[in-house]
Amino acid sequence: MHSEADLRAPIGIFDSGFGGLTVARAVLDLLPHEDLVYLGDTARAPYGPRPIAEVREFALECLDRLVAHGVRALVIACNTASAAVLRDARERYAVPIIEVVLPAARRAVAATATDRVGVICTQATATSQAYDDALAVAPHVTLTTAVCPRFVEFVEAGITGGPDLLAVARDYLAPIQAAGCDTLILGCTHYPLLEGVISYVLGEDVTLVSSATTCARSVFSTLTDLDLLSGDERPGQRLFLTTGDPRRFAELGRRLIGDLVDEVAQVPVGRG
Ligand code: DGL
Repeated sequence: MHSEADLRAPIGIFDSGFGGLTVARAVLDLLPHEDLVYLGDTARAPYGPRPIAEVREFALECLDRLVAHGVRALVIACNTASAAVLRDARERYAVPIIEVVLPAARRAVAATATDRVGVICTQATATSQAYDDALAVAPHVTLTTAVCPRFVEFVEAGITGGPDLLAVARDYLAPIQAAGCDTLILGCTHYPLLEGVISYVLGEDVTLVSSATTCARSVFSTLTDLDLLSGDERPGQRLFLTTGDPRRFAELGRRLIGDLVDEVAQVPVGRG
C-alpha cells in the first residue's frame, strides 16, 4: 500500500517534444481522473537524429526534473528516449517507470500470424536496436525496421494526408511491404496521427500497433498492480511543461490532441 501523499502526486510523462501528447491522450482516455504532469523537451527536439549518448543525457536531465516535481510514476513516452535510457532510469529513480518499447513489442508478438513484424521509428531508435532486443523473447519473429524521419515533420506541420505525404509514406513503407509483414509497430510518438495514410498504403490486412495505446494500457496495469491509482472521482488536473516556447506548445499541442492541453508553463533547459 502507498501513503495518501503518494497518490496525490501526478503521473509524470516525458517526451522529446509534442509527440508524447498522443501517449498523454491515451493515458487520459483510460485514466481520466488521474493528475498528469507532462514535460516536452521541445527546445532540443527532435531527438531522433541525435547520437544515443546525447539523447540519454537530455532525457535523464528531463526525468530528473519530473522526479524533483514529485511524481507517482514516470512514463517515458518517447520511443527514442525509451531506447536510450530505460535501464539507467530504472536504476536511478525509486518510482515505477513505464516506457513505450516493450508493451508495443509484446502486442505485436500477440498480433502477428505470419511471424513477420515491422517497426517504423526514428534513426536513433533503429540504431539502438531496442525493438530487436524487446523481440528477442520471440525468436520465431522476424523484425523489419524502417526509419521514417520526415513523418515527424509532417505531423508537426499539421499534415496528416495529401499527395506529398502519401508519396513519402509509399517510399518509407516499401521495405515493410516487401518483407510481407502482417503487423507494424508505430514505434514513434507521432505516428499514431498518421494511421490513416499508413493503413491506406499497407491495406487493412496489416495490423497497426500504436505504441501510444499499448503504453497507456501498461500505465493502467502497472498502477493497478502497484495499488497506485488515486481512485478520485473528480476530473484529473493536467500541467504541461515545455523547455521551449509555451505559446507554441499550447498551439501545436491543441492541434494534436485538442483542448486537453490547457495549462502550459516553461522550464529552463540545461543543468545548473
Ligand atoms: N518522440 C520521438 C520518438 O518517439 C519522436 C520525435 C523526436 O525525434 O524527438 O521517437
